[in-house]
Amino acid sequence: MAAFRWGVLSTAKIATTKVIPAIRGSEHGQVTAIGSRDGARASEVAEELGIERAYDSYEQVLEDPDIEGVYIPLPNHLHVPWTVRAAEAGKHVLCEKPIGLTTSDAETLLEVADRTGVRIQEAFMVRTHPQWLRARDLVSSGEIGELRAIQGFFSYHNTDADDIRNQADIGGGGMLDIGCYPVTTSRFVLEREPERVCAVVDRDPQTLIDRLGSAILDFSGTTATFTYGTQSFPYQRMTFVGTSARLDVEIPFNAPADRPCRLLLTRDPSPGAEPEVIEVPVCDQYAVAADAFVASIRRDEPPPVPLEDSIANMRVLDALMRSAEKASWQTI
Ligand SMILES: NC(=O)c1ccc[n+]([C@@H]2O[C@H](COP(=O)([O-])OP(=O)(O)OC[C@H]3O[C@@H](n4cnc5c(N)ncnc54)[C@H](OP(=O)(O)O)[C@@H]3O)[C@@H](O)[C@H]2O)c1
Repeated sequence: MAAFRWGVLSTAKIATTKVIPAIRGSEHGQVTAIGSRDGARASEVAEELGIERAYDSYEQVLEDPDIEGVYIPLPNHLHVPWTVRAAEAGKHVLCEKPIGLTTSDAETLLEVADRTGVRIQEAFMVRTHPQWLRARDLVSSGEIGELRAIQGFFSYHNTDADDIRNQADIGGGGMLDIGCYPVTTSRFVLEREPERVCAVVDRDPQTLIDRLGSAILDFSGTTATFTYGTQSFPYQRMTFVGTSARLDVEIPFNAPADRPCRLLLTRDPSPGAEPEVIEVPVCDQYAVAADAFVASIRRDEPPPVPLEDSIANMRVLDALMRSAEKASWQTI
C-alpha cells in the first residue's frame, strides 16, 4: 500500500506531541506538510518532526496537490468550517473530536461528503483501539452475562484561561472535550442508541464553560452513567457490570503507547475479589486510528468511525446539554 501523504492544519499540541509522531511511525502514512497561522512556528515544527513542507496558512496545505488527506486538530468551533474547506479542495479529512459543536453543525458534513466524494471521519481513536474492540467482544459474547450498567469517569485539572478548553466562545467545556468519550464508548459497546438522557452540569463562574457534569443514559434495560470534570483530580475508568461478572477498562481513553493496556474481568462475586487481568498488546492508538482510516480509503471499505455514528454521538451530547439547561429528561 503506497504511503498516504498527510497534511496537518495547525501546530496543535495533540498534533505535535501525539498524532504526527504516531503517523510517522504508522504503517500506511507519512506527514508531508504542516500549515500554521504562524509560518515560523510551522517551519520550527516541520524541522523538529521531519516534515518536508511548512506553510504559513492552512489554505496552502489544501492547495498542495500532493496532499491526499488532512488531519484537523483545530479548536472545536473550526472543525466543521475547515472540514468543509478541505473536502471541497478534494482532501480526505480526519478531524478531531468533537466533529462539530452541535448535531446540526455536524450534519452539514453528510452533504459535503456526498458532494465531494471524500472520506470525512472523526478522530475518535478509542474506537479503533484493540482494547475497546476486545471489551466490546467480551460484552457481546456474554462473558459478563447480560450487560446491566455502565459507569464512566473522565477528569483532569485545567484552569489555564488561555487553553481552548476554557473558552466558551470557541467550543470549550468538558462535555465536548471529554464527556464525549464515555458517550461514544458506551454506544460502541452496546451497539445501540440511548432512548432518553439527563444531566446536571456545573459551570465555571468566570469562563462559563461546563467544568463538571454527571449524566444518565437510558438504553432501556441498560443504564450508562458517567461524570466528567475539568477542574478535578485526574482520573479515568469505564466499568461494565453484567449479570454474572464485571469488566473494568483500566485506562480507557489516554491509553499508554509504551505498555500493554489492561482489561480487568471479575467473575468472583466476593467483595474485593481479584480480577482476571487481560493484557492487550502495546500499540499507539493514534497510529492505529490513522492506519485504519487510510486502509479503509485505499481498500474502499466502510470507515472505522462512520460520519453517521459521529452525528449520533453529537445528538446525545446535545440532548445532555439540553437536559442540564431544562432540568428534565430529553429524548434522543
Ligand atoms: N483525540 C485526542 O486524544 C485529543 C487529545 C487532545 C485534544 N484533542 C482535540 O484536538 C483539538 C486541539 O486540541 P489541542 O489541545 O491540541 O489544542 P491547541 O494546542 O490549543 O491547538 C489548537 C491549534 O489551533 C490553531 N488555532 C487556530 N485558531 C485558533 C484560535 N482561535 N485559538 C487557538 N488556536 C487556534 C493553533 O495553531 P496554529 O497557531 O499553528 O495555527 C493552535 O495551536 C481539539 O479539538 C481537541 O478536542 C483530541
